[in-house]
Amino acid sequence: MRLFIDSSNVSQIKSLNEYFPIDGVTTNPSIIVKEQKPFLPLLKEIRNVIGEDKLLFVQTLSTRAEDIIEEARYIHDTLRGNLVVKIPVTKEGIKAIKTLSQENIHTLATTVYTPMNAYVAAKAGANYVAPYVNRIDNLTGDGIRVVYEIMAIFQKFNFSCEVLAASFKNVQQIKEVSLTGAHGVTVSPDLIEAFLSNPPIKENVEQFRNEWIQLYGEENATLLEGKRKDD
Ligand code: E4P
Repeated sequence: MRLFIDSSNVSQIKSLNEYFPIDGVTTNPSIIVKEQKPFLPLLKEIRNVIGEDKLLFVQTLSTRAEDIIEEARYIHDTLRGNLVVKIPVTKEGIKAIKTLSQENIHTLATTVYTPMNAYVAAKAGANYVAPYVNRIDNLTGDGIRVVYEIMAIFQKFNFSCEVLAASFKNVQQIKEVSLTGAHGVTVSPDLIEAFLSNPPIKENVEQFRNEWIQLYGEENATLLEGKRKDD
């Protein structure tokens, strides 16, 4: 399952990209606005941090298909590397996705709330769909079940469209999504950090080090001590 950072905060992206096995960055208008910076230089900075191979997702703002298409072409030509244009699953959005898929501009259908939203987007040629797990749960729906059903439909009909689940409030939701076999998740920086924040890990590591130090001493708390002796 691929792992994306759902953020446009450059310092958090830099740090997570250094430590975690990250496949790219997803943004949306709200996420960009949060940084209070001109959007294009910000997106270019993110591109520089993650490099050209990792995916960068940028969402369009227009509501008419023709305008969405123009935005998509512009951002696709302006930002280098692996770029995916996010388009909401409105009727106009679906029309835009149909045209863009003919032009080989990769798209992700976003604001997906139902399996049928996802089905139409995939059939229109979207490369990815993003079901909004937590926002579905907040409507007293079942976000995980929606992801299962989208996966089942895509598998039955051999759609090559990938499911990139989005909108998470806790790590449990992400674990549940991983059991559906979804192709990817996009996760906020604090939840990615929370993947490793189980208290016992720190305690265990301290115990391993302390036992070692008791026998070999603080200055030799490294396997490189073996190398020093060999030299
Ligand atoms: C992904 O790209 C979505 O826009 C995002 O995950 C939505 O998350 P939220 O429901 O936490 O705003």
